[in-house]
Amino acid sequence: MKRLVPVAVSALALAASFLVPQPQTVEAGNHDDFVIVGHRGASGYRPEHTLASYELAARMGADYIEPDLVTTKDRVLVARHEPEIGGTTDVAAHPEFAGRKKTKLLDGVAVTGWFTEDFTLAELKTLRAKERIPAIRQHNTVFDGHYQIPTFQEVIDLSRRLSKELGRPIGIYPETKHPTYFQQQGLALEPELVKVLNRNGLNRKDAKVFVQSFEVSNLKALHPQLRVPLVQLTSSAGAPYDFVASGDKRTYADIVSAAGLREVAKYADGLGPSKDQVIPLDATGKLGKPTSLVADAHRAGLVVHPYTFRVENSFLPADFDSSAVQTDSGNLFGEIAAYRKAGIDGLFTDNTDIAVAQEREAR
Ligand code: G3P
Ligand code: CA
Repeated sequence: MKRLVPVAVSALALAASFLVPQPQTVEAGNHDDFVIVGHRGASGYRPEHTLASYELAARMGADYIEPDLVTTKDRVLVARHEPEIGGTTDVAAHPEFAGRKKTKLLDGVAVTGWFTEDFTLAELKTLRAKERIPAIRQHNTVFDGHYQIPTFQEVIDLSRRLSKELGRPIGIYPETKHPTYFQQQGLALEPELVKVLNRNGLNRKDAKVFVQSFEVSNLKALHPQLRVPLVQLTSSAGAPYDFVASGDKRTYADIVSAAGLREVAKYADGLGPSKDQVIPLDATGKLGKPTSLVADAHRAGLVVHPYTFRVENSFLPADFDSSAVQTDSGNLFGEIAAYRKAGIDGLFTDNTDIAVAQEREAR
């Protein structure tokens, strides 16, 4: 049974509430059947991958919070969407780190900036997070400079504390980011991931944990080491970088074929496709007809958790836009409803509050 409880509002959040509508209640129910994942936390409302972002997602009713994982030079897993941190931290404003700016090949693409693997954890902790997309989420920029980069351990500790406080389990849904890239530098993510899960007693079947990756070989390698469910992420274009690096010509399109999904089911329990692999857009940018992906995945025994559901018009199908203004909020309720009708088992969202409200309405 769900109940509504008051949000604990910090002074900072209170100040921000005058700038952007804030949720006044939190959802405290379990989503036993439908899984709501707070994508990078509540990244629609806070700079992504900060403890504040994860905490807000949990308080809004997320079943899981989602840290993307990269590593430091001293092999500590930290939550960032990519190794380059110029886009999500204030590192560029730190003269002591100016010499760390480099151009590196990241999955075959030249990227210039600052990279987590060139910093110790102590050094990274001197930085502060900032909003990734300030042009779209200007309201989030009020939180720029206030939060550190969290370690994976700190995310686990937060999920534990909030599970106790909210009286329901807050799961974690970590993603290994650029596994081949880190393996090539002698800083493989997987041993540390297994170590941290073991250390926290989370490497067990009934732990509320999913582990996800866009690559295949690291999930296959993790399969015998982890008892928690694994999720194969896929994209509507391209190929897993471990396939590219090894000369394997298969693509994500091959993986989501009926035969490909049966292969996935040998090492994983779920599929995390991009939204358009479930329901593509038509030529006018409106939501088209569902593909057979959900049915094929279910037939293979896989749950389906697509990404990423976001409220701003710039991320919505044209028929769910509220206006021509890309930063305006549109009909995310409607988009989620259409995807739920297509049979998905859960979703990644930047706007947990809306997914939770939609879920309550759908019951
Ligand atoms: O992990 C699901 C979704 O987060 C994948 O996209 O790029 O946001 O990590 P990304
Ligand atoms: Ca992710």
